[in-house]
Amino acid sequence: MKSNVLPWLAVFLAVTSLLRGAEPTVQSVTTRDLALVYSVDAAHRLMFRHFGPKLAHEAELARAKTPAVSDVRSMRHWEAYPAYGRAEVYSPALQVTHADGSLVTELVFAQRKTLPAPEGVTHTVFVLRDAVQPLTAELHLEAYAQENVFAQWVEVSHSEKGPIAIGSIFSGFLPSAARKYFLSHFHGAWSSEMTLSEEELKPGVKIIESQRGVRITQQDNPSFLLALDQPATEETGEIIGGALAWSGNFRLSFQVDEWGQLRTLAGLNPFVSELKLAPGEPFVSPKFIFTYSPAGRGLVSRRLHDWARRYALADGFTPRSIVLNSWEGAYFKFDEATLTGMIDGAAQLGVETFVLDDGWFGNKHPRDSAEAGLGDWQTNIKKLPRGLNYLADYAESKGMKFGLWIEPEMVNPRSELAERHPEWIVQSPGREKIAMRNQWLLDLGNPAVQEFVWQMVDRLLTEHPKIAYLKWDANRHVSQPGTTALPADRQSSFWTAYVRGLYSVYAKIRAKYPQIILQVCASGGGRVDFGALAYHHEFWASDNTDALSRLTIQYGTNLIYPPIATAAHVSTSPNHQTGNVTPLKFRFDVAMTGRLGLELQPKDMDAAEQEFARAAIATYKRIRPLLAQGDLYRMHSPYEPGGWVSQMLVAKDRTQAAVFVFSTQAHRRGVVPTLRLRGLDPAKRYKVTELNRLAPAKGAGAFWGNGQTFTGEYLTEIGLEANIGKIYTSAVFLLEAVP
Ligand code: DGJ
Repeated sequence: MKSNVLPWLAVFLAVTSLLRGAEPTVQSVTTRDLALVYSVDAAHRLMFRHFGPKLAHEAELARAKTPAVSDVRSMRHWEAYPAYGRAEVYSPALQVTHADGSLVTELVFAQRKTLPAPEGVTHTVFVLRDAVQPLTAELHLEAYAQENVFAQWVEVSHSEKGPIAIGSIFSGFLPSAARKYFLSHFHGAWSSEMTLSEEELKPGVKIIESQRGVRITQQDNPSFLLALDQPATEETGEIIGGALAWSGNFRLSFQVDEWGQLRTLAGLNPFVSELKLAPGEPFVSPKFIFTYSPAGRGLVSRRLHDWARRYALADGFTPRSIVLNSWEGAYFKFDEATLTGMIDGAAQLGVETFVLDDGWFGNKHPRDSAEAGLGDWQTNIKKLPRGLNYLADYAESKGMKFGLWIEPEMVNPRSELAERHPEWIVQSPGREKIAMRNQWLLDLGNPAVQEFVWQMVDRLLTEHPKIAYLKWDANRHVSQPGTTALPADRQSSFWTAYVRGLYSVYAKIRAKYPQIILQVCASGGGRVDFGALAYHHEFWASDNTDALSRLTIQYGTNLIYPPIATAAHVSTSPNHQTGNVTPLKFRFDVAMTGRLGLELQPKDMDAAEQEFARAAIATYKRIRPLLAQGDLYRMHSPYEPGGWVSQMLVAKDRTQAAVFVFSTQAHRRGVVPTLRLRGLDPAKRYKVTELNRLAPAKGAGAFWGNGQTFTGEYLTEIGLEANIGKIYTSAVFLLEAVP
């Protein structure tokens, strides 16, 4: 072994010392306000030095001595990307078993490179090499200047004598030194997605993860907020916010070490996921997106929203069409007349897109329930004898667009597809396949399955050129992982192969059909992450459409993900899932804080309800540019006692805002919420108009000063009192700057 390695090492050290001579010792990557600072120490290690506000004197960091390689006791002793084997004694970012069986990796800094990037973005690469083996780990960093957001990922490649085995490969490592650490993360389940959980981190390791492969965020979302020193508030405190752009198994690990320092790792879940890598075969980890706020979590949300709208979402700043989705209004029980009736009703309300949900396909095995038909993507001729084009034309004749539900990753045992291609199903040889919601999972890691799904979607869209919207659902997760597409010694690559295969199909659809609106859905909000969102316009936040539950679900969701991407539909009362009874106005006001839609049969509404709905939809059209382009500020949280929830959207130029306030419990007479508004220009005068008033509007409404003007200063410092207090009452105000 020695004779092979020594010449390589000599060249490598010569090159690195040459390069080091040319490089400044302090290595920083910056956005408009933030800096991520590393330094190269005497042992050639790339050390993490700072993440937070930009430093005026960052060169000072070069002076500070980093501890010796063998010293693990010192403060701030963090490699930028710690690999296992040298002095690292904590969970490493990278663990490799080399081709020769060696367990040790020692990354030393070789080079800093700048790669081309879009305007407003810098792309820096720190090339790290193992001191002995021909293995390279490139640490990539994108800095999004105006949004103050970073993306980090790693690419590993090697030219060792045979395959290496990667035991863990995290995308990002962020250490912190504070007195205390408060972690917020978002656990959930079907119908209670993105439930905020906050806790103080104690010595030891706290792991947030998913091992479900698909529908991962039903377990926990791959995102977090980390408050330093004190618990997070909207406007105070140092907060780091992060999210892994990945729709498969992930791990966020928070280790408080014996010195009270915190080591945060974000990346792929190493759980049964060893990756074999042949010489010359690179592996690229998903992107870890993160930001920092010196002023509370509100700013973290706004930074992530801005970043997502510009770089992660399709058409992120474009106001969205109002949708009526057929699911809760018809479920599987419909024929052509049911649907044309829904289209008529929706058109009269001002809805712009009609989406036909589950149940439209399958002939040999009709999809009349969740028991059969998945995989057989032909229109059911009994239900829809004139086909989908007839419905699309009909919608068009009513001035509406037409959309369709699909669930391409799945197959019912009772389907022609399962009969034809049993080898495409995720399975473990010789074992009985477990069905969930009566369905099996297709192996998207298999190129043949990718091609089948792509062809199916392509054919659907070619044969039905008026389809303007696709809802992509996924109603089970992985069990009995196994793939016929990979050799026996690579079965543990199943998890990443699946997600990459799925993304390759998404990418083809986006490239060929950029004008089609895409919604990601997985039994509700089971796939809400920046990885999938990069190919979509929006996500279905939850199958729970109860407005009260939605206040909590959407609050958690919008801490990380932007409101414009949050599909929020008004459904009937009592609610199908919860049985909760809420007024139509409350349901509309809640749904209007996201991408408004309806999830009902319009003819089930009486005349007064239809009139209210028509007016509310017209109002939403007025304020939706704020949702697309504005900033979100939260005042009252559903997690705080008091029974109020309030938030607002403010235009970037601060000339307009929409304020939403909800009463979630019965308050004593005279107890009303005071809304000290945020994000306004104190010097401007704003006219306050109440929107969405119940028709016929009578009395003072929810604001005694309706139609009057106030300075931004008054609205911020004194505030606006909303005259609501009964359970499930709500109000919406429009603020317009006046000359
Ligand atoms: C789960 C989704 O979340 C629902 O909106 C609906 O599309 C059903 N699947 C249909 O089966």
